Amino acid sequence: MEKQSILFVCLGNICRSPLVEAVARRRCAEAGLEVTLASCGTGNWHAGKGADPRMLRAAAAAGYDLSRHRARQVRPGDFDGYDWVLAMDEDNLEALLSMRRGRGAPAELFLPWAGVASPREFPDPYFGDSDGFRDSVALAERAVDGLIARLRGG
Ligand code: 4NP
Repeated sequence: MEKQSILFVCLGNICRSPLVEAVARRRCAEAGLEVTLASCGTGNWHAGKGADPRMLRAAAAAGYDLSRHRARQVRPGDFDGYDWVLAMDEDNLEALLSMRRGRGAPAELFLPWAGVASPREFPDPYFGDSDGFRDSVALAERAVDGLIARLRGG
């Protein structure tokens, strides 16, 4: 089977999508799945910056290292470079669909794509407290279980 590639997309690329990328990277390696994984944001405010320190801490507490992450903004060429472009929420998806204009990789909502029925959108922890960041890690792990099942299923 050809190596599959997935780009995870949120707004700032400092909280949700780098977390999902890191969880998926480790779990796919553990599962022996060869997948190319990356993340980016629809916005450019944090481009070049590291992950949000609160996300970095919550991820580290669960064993995921976000220290080397650097944020970048999505670009039209991404739709030619990945098999799937997966958005964390409806706003991100709308931005992606208007950039995609019907070409290249499909853009979909990440959680339903991964078989998570509820929630459909990955809650944005940025304006919340530390509980939100811990919840993000648990949700990312749950969704990545579904991602692995989907990739294994073909
Ligand atoms: P993310 O979280 O999209 O999960 O990386 C956010 C990061 C930054 C902002 C909002 C959400 N912001 O408004 O700067």
